[in-house]
Amino acid sequence: MRASGSDPIREAARLLAERRNAVALTGAGISVESGIPSFRGAQGMWAKYDPMEYATLHAFMQSPRKVWEMLTEMVSVCGFASPNAAHKGLAALEGMGVVRAVITQNVDGLHQAAGSRRVIEYHGSMEELICVHCWKRYLTRERWTPGAVPLCDCDEILKPNVVLFGEPIPWLAQEVAEEEARTCGVLMVIGTSAQVSPACDIPRIAKESGAAVVEINPEETSLSGNVTDIHLRGSASEVLRRILEEFSADEETPSSPSHKIK
Ligand code: APR
Repeated sequence: MRASGSDPIREAARLLAERRNAVALTGAGISVESGIPSFRGAQGMWAKYDPMEYATLHAFMQSPRKVWEMLTEMVSVCGFASPNAAHKGLAALEGMGVVRAVITQNVDGLHQAAGSRRVIEYHGSMEELICVHCWKRYLTRERWTPGAVPLCDCDEILKPNVVLFGEPIPWLAQEVAEEEARTCGVLMVIGTSAQVSPACDIPRIAKESGAAVVEINPEETSLSGNVTDIHLRGSASEVLRRILEEFSADEETPSSPSHKIK
């Protein structure tokens, strides 16, 4: 890879090329350019819906029809969205053997739609509904119609199989995600404010296990300046486009690192 000098993008690309066992942790910011609002910030979902009233398991059990007002918007927005250059960039890096897994807090399925094969859905998925009484599962597209509250065969109201506040992380997802963090060489943290635990612990686990932490976010977060080694300020799609550019520039350079580590 060309000498990095003071270019953080080039430095990050050099790290990825050298270590070649990167894992990505993604949040709502990576899907903003696909038209899905993030949660926090002025335009975020939580500016419109109080998460304590609309996004806790308790709220769902108390008034599922009310919670479905918010969920209807989320299911519709996710349903219309398609992957952007950032999702596709991660899938390309997986194809090149640089990224080996994506841990996502998102429930929109866009990483898989972009072609990523190893995706750990840490907060579940909107593509499935589950009955919180008999645990029967359904595909959302087969059981949900816009404006209607979906019912189980047992007549109870169904919930998207996503993790609401107050619910545990699916244990297998948590186990696998933490193992990936403990054993990766680079953790790319993309589009998350890192305010929600236990997902926000993943960068610390990776750092303590010796990984380099590369953060991609136009804003500072609680990670920047302490856990983060390289902060790439910018939108996920623009930054990943430039990282891939570095790799393709490398292919044209006869002395590319894929042949030797500098
Ligand atoms: N590219 C990269 N990052 C972006 C972009 C973009 N185009 N646009 C916004 N961001 C950043 C914001 O600066 C912010 O730091 O994405 C982050 C989004 O943060 P949140 O809205 O807090 O979303 P997230 O961190 O994924 O939330 C975590 O909280 O509400 C719960 O369960 C929900 O999974 C969610 C969890």
